[in-house]
Amino acid sequence: MGWVMDETLRLYPSIPNLQRQAREDIRVDGALISKGTKMWIDVAMHHDQALWGNIVNEFRPERFKDDLYGGCKHKMGYLPFGFGGRICVGKSLTTMEYKIVLTLIPTRYSSGVRTKINGHLRNINNEEALGPEKASSPIM
Ligand code: HEM
Repeated sequence: MGWVMDETLRLYPSIPNLQRQAREDIRVDGALISKGTKMWIDVAMHHDQALWGNIVNEFRPERFKDDLYGGCKHKMGYLPFGFGGRICVGKSLTTMEYKIVLTLIPTRYSSGVRTKINGHLRNINNEEALGPEKASSPIM
């Protein structure tokens, strides 16, 4: 369930960029960034093939299995909630709400199969097909 959220926020991040301003002169990979410089960190890097490989545009939640960074080649390449001291304060709340809502949605629907019995088409719902105990097991 967590992987699906991570992958959804990778492909469809809620924000286009993060902003920072240098508080002092800093050097990054030999380049000087002067005090006061405003920086936009482009979240389009979630779609950068150089960081994610050639399946970058495919919906593959399993890329987050055993890897917080989803297999991204750079630790800062996946930033749906930002980073550092200004990281989103709602991150944990959002994750919890998402899991609750996603768990509740299937409880509002029923599903079944259509099959031929004695030459007649019949709908069989989950309870008939699986028995009431199995049909009502929570999906987590
Ligand atoms: C899917 C849901 C959400 C996403 C993707 C998201 C994403 C973000 C991002 C990218 C930032 C900027 C972080 C940075 O600059 O490093 C941010 C900041 C923030 N978010 Fe969220 N957010 C979400 C939900 C929420 C919720 C539910 C709340 C409040 C209950 C919240 C409260 C905040 C606040 C207060 C900040 C500013 C933090 C600061 O500047 O110190 N967010 N969020």
